[in-house]
Amino acid sequence: MTTALFQPIQLGDITATNRIAMAPMTRSRTTQPGDVPNEMMATYYKQRANAGLIVTEGSPISAVGRGYSMTPGIYTQDHIDGWKKVTSAIHEAGSKAFIQLWHVGRRSHSTISGEQPLAPSAIKVPDQVFGPLPEGGFGMIETQEPKAMTQQDIDNTIADFVQAAKNSIAAGFDGVEIHAAHGYLFDTFMRLESNQRDDQYGGSQENRIRFLSETLEAVCDAIGSDKVAVRVSPHVIEGFADEDPEIIEVILKALEKMQPMNLAYVHFSERISRYVEVPESFRKQVREVYSNRIMVAGKLTKESAATLLNNQYADLVAFGTPYVTNPDLVQRFSNDWPLAEFDADARLTLYGGDENGYIDYSEYQPA
Ligand SMILES: Cc1cc2nc3c(=O)[nH]c(=O)nc-3n(C[C@H](O)[C@H](O)[C@H](O)COP(=O)(O)O)c2cc1C
Repeated sequence: MTTALFQPIQLGDITATNRIAMAPMTRSRTTQPGDVPNEMMATYYKQRANAGLIVTEGSPISAVGRGYSMTPGIYTQDHIDGWKKVTSAIHEAGSKAFIQLWHVGRRSHSTISGEQPLAPSAIKVPDQVFGPLPEGGFGMIETQEPKAMTQQDIDNTIADFVQAAKNSIAAGFDGVEIHAAHGYLFDTFMRLESNQRDDQYGGSQENRIRFLSETLEAVCDAIGSDKVAVRVSPHVIEGFADEDPEIIEVILKALEKMQPMNLAYVHFSERISRYVEVPESFRKQVREVYSNRIMVAGKLTKESAATLLNNQYADLVAFGTPYVTNPDLVQRFSNDWPLAEFDADARLTLYGGDENGYIDYSEYQPA
């Protein structure tokens, strides 16, 4: 039974027309200089506005929060004006839009951000990011050892998230999704390998959650909790050398803290990069502590997504790569039309470049 996919759902004061979300996907096609969202991006998102909810690509909240060149920011007036084109296009097409607010933490280099990357502790892992090459042009470069954040850095970062959230509302977004997954800033605070602090942000599990929960509370106060969501990835090892022995417990504790916040949704990113399969027992544990909206993403099919909804493990299901090559994904699902494969050609045009492999995927033409 896949009908649950096509049921509307209330998220705070907005209604998504179905439970299929477009997952956040970095495509690195901003206008330079300034990393500004543009008309081509508006067209791309509009083509995919059959999703009940679009979560945009990760958007750095500050210069130092940037880890990849060409990604769209949300910290200048040009960014706000550029994003307005995107949100109007999505709304005109009948969908809703959350922007993903991004601070990459240690997964960066000062040649990208202009500043030494920030992290809970000054620990670097072997890791590469997309940035300027010494010989010119862009490519993958090794990350730099980060600076351990001071209390002032933490306070400034919370203030940057608050400002970015206000900017997002000014740009017409229905809400914001705070990126706390994939080895970026908040994820590194939550894990032992990257957080070796001995102040109130390190040590105990409670302390390792503090930075994320303080940020969520500040952003909720600024724009309203029904407009705030968060993405986590306890089963993904991206950005770390090893699996964390406590991350599942830490995330369950974080969910207990989030329950009374009445967030728009909590988004679980699963099955990307290096990962552990999510056992059903985890989904049950999540439901014991968290009864509000949950979104799940990661190699879902129409059938596996519907099963998550039917079992009430998720309220929304997000698709990433299927949306790259199938702009009309919801129509294809609802009519049982075949999907265009996410093939080697599609991979080549994921990051950077022009309209090719971005806005030239066609809708399905029934015979
Ligand atoms: C090209 C590309 C870019 C991505 N960029 C982001 C991102 O900016 N933020 C994020 O949280 N996840 C990002 N992801 C992960 C997706 O949101 C999603 O979780 C992942 O693709 C798994 O879903 P899928 O199997 O349906 O593609 C990206 C994935 C792809 C393929």
